[in-house]
Amino acid sequence: MNPKQLAAHAAVALIENGMKVGLGTGSTAYFAIQKIGQRVKEEGLQVTCIATSIQSEELAKSLNIPMAGFDTLKRLDITIDGADEADHQLQLIKGGGGALLREKIIAYMTDHYVIIADQSKYVETLGKFHLPVEVIPFGWQRTFDHLEALGAKPHLRQRDTAIYITDNGNYILDCDFGAIFEPRDLQTKIDLIPGVVECGLFVDRTGTLIIGNNDGSVVTHNRK
Ligand code: A5P
Repeated sequence: MNPKQLAAHAAVALIENGMKVGLGTGSTAYFAIQKIGQRVKEEGLQVTCIATSIQSEELAKSLNIPMAGFDTLKRLDITIDGADEADHQLQLIKGGGGALLREKIIAYMTDHYVIIADQSKYVETLGKFHLPVEVIPFGWQRTFDHLEALGAKPHLRQRDTAIYITDNGNYILDCDFGAIFEPRDLQTKIDLIPGVVECGLFVDRTGTLIIGNNDGSVVTHNRK
């Protein structure tokens, strides 16, 4: 098993019958959704899920995982999602896959937020991975200027030759802030910029971080 799969399987073992579950997005969350599908099929595991992206929702439906919407789901017992970087205080950068807004909405309705990643994502200081910031297309150039004034080198995300569009119809500015020593403070400053919908800093949300290592071991870090 590869390290992402190891972490994903350890996280899915935390799911119990009857739980309401948030499904993450990305190549690591993919393994978690696959494993949940397997447990539903083989053990008759009963769960109700909601996904953080159209891509994950389609995958879950193809595996016959029971899905529900926000009308019926008020809180989630657990969400299992990936991250682009996680530091030793379990603060995160997310959004490499473009799903940060839906991921954050779901993170904030979750009792036990579980992040899964391979060892390359576990870092001393956030910031090597450029911080994704979802912005409204209207006047995005001015939002760009405000992010620059905060010290970032922003870059408009492209897919092939076109501008990348999120599931919510917005753009993403990937921002090089250098090392991020105060993620809480930076998140507050970015959120105050007009045109910013959400930034990829996930601060004080993670309850458990599960890292899969190249040597086949799995290390679990719980919030103190
Ligand atoms: C999706 O927008 C992201 O937040 C992902 O959770 C993150 O990019 C991790 O993706 P991988 O598991 O593919 O590295």
